[in-house]
Amino acid sequence: MSEYLFFLGQNHPLSLAEIKRRLPQVEPITVNADRAYFELDFAPLSLASQLGGTTKIAQKLTDLSPDLEPLLVDQLVALKASTFCISLIGPHSQNIYSLHASLKEKLSSVLSSVRYILPKDGHLSPLVLARQHVTELIVDFTRNTLYHTIWVHDFNAWIIRDRQNPYITPRQGMLPPKLARIMVNLALGSRTTADTTFLDPFCGSGTLLSEARLLGLSTIGTDLSADQVKGTIDNLNWLGKIYPQNLPPFSVFGADATHLSEIIKTPIDLIVTEPYLGPLTPSLPKQMNIAKGLYKLYLGALKDWQKIVSPHHTIVLAYPLFEDSKTLKYFHDFIDTTLKLGYNQPVKNLLFTRPNAKIQRQIIILER
Ligand SMILES: C[S@@+](CC[C@H](N)C(=O)[O-])C[C@H]1O[C@@H](n2cnc3c(N)ncnc32)[C@H](O)[C@@H]1O
Repeated sequence: MSEYLFFLGQNHPLSLAEIKRRLPQVEPITVNADRAYFELDFAPLSLASQLGGTTKIAQKLTDLSPDLEPLLVDQLVALKASTFCISLIGPHSQNIYSLHASLKEKLSSVLSSVRYILPKDGHLSPLVLARQHVTELIVDFTRNTLYHTIWVHDFNAWIIRDRQNPYITPRQGMLPPKLARIMVNLALGSRTTADTTFLDPFCGSGTLLSEARLLGLSTIGTDLSADQVKGTIDNLNWLGKIYPQNLPPFSVFGADATHLSEIIKTPIDLIVTEPYLGPLTPSLPKQMNIAKGLYKLYLGALKDWQKIVSPHHTIVLAYPLFEDSKTLKYFHDFIDTTLKLGYNQPVKNLLFTRPNAKIQRQIIILER
């Protein structure tokens, strides 16, 4: 068993929910805003690269000793850390500049060309860590523990998938790939990807299908718009070129999400989707009619999907977040219907909101 510190991405509850769904048998030791601590009997490196919401993982090296500097020197020498950074978490009286300068002086007699990078806002960003090949030690005074950063997310790969797809449709409110990956993991849970079937019935430009395929899921995507179907196919073919390893097959075609049972005959295990969300910034008076229309569309689709899903399936939906009490009624009616259809909601109140975003979403997990 070893202790690991997971740094959670921008939306902490959503990032934590993703880890918990993938590791249902493990409870975090503790969670502290953007950090979650787990005791694991395996190295979480391959899991880490599958997560959308975790940015950095550090492994416990040892408990802190009252004399911090000799402990840090020993560990940095053992790690042959010629470029190092000491990040400090929790209340402390250390002077970060003199600590780094003093460590550099001591290390210089043992290692060649030693340099350091100072942490910013408490710890080093994953981007700097990856680009500069820095050995980061994290002194966590809240847990009296020293950690070593062992993994950072692949910042560039996320940016490329977000911005360099051949088909981009900003007006449809494209899903950020990280949120798409989190949604796929919320649905996948502890299932294995082999033999698990995946459907996005409002596939848009194919972001969810791309992230599902990168996890190893065979995917089906459908959309009412012929342009979106063609765009999704272009994006999935492009994905195959930038990830030349054998990605699982995909099938994408035009269909109305409320009539899929007429076409799809394979039992579906996972439905993960961001359905049509309505106009981007509707005025308050218009919101009630929009909420009513979306409620009808989502309910029609959910009822039709009952005919194509496998007995133990999971549905993850991004639902627009309306805050007005009259429009909220339609959301509550939708949830009531899902309960009547025999679903449970294993995690509630998952929001994906950003200060200036045109659309605020809530993520609903329905499980049976
Ligand atoms: C919000 S977009 C999905 C965006 C997608 N997640 C992405 O990242 O590109 C919603 C999609 O639903 C499609 N759509 C709207 N009504 C539909 C229906 N009844 N059946 C299937 N697709 C529909 C639209 O063409 C649009 O592509």
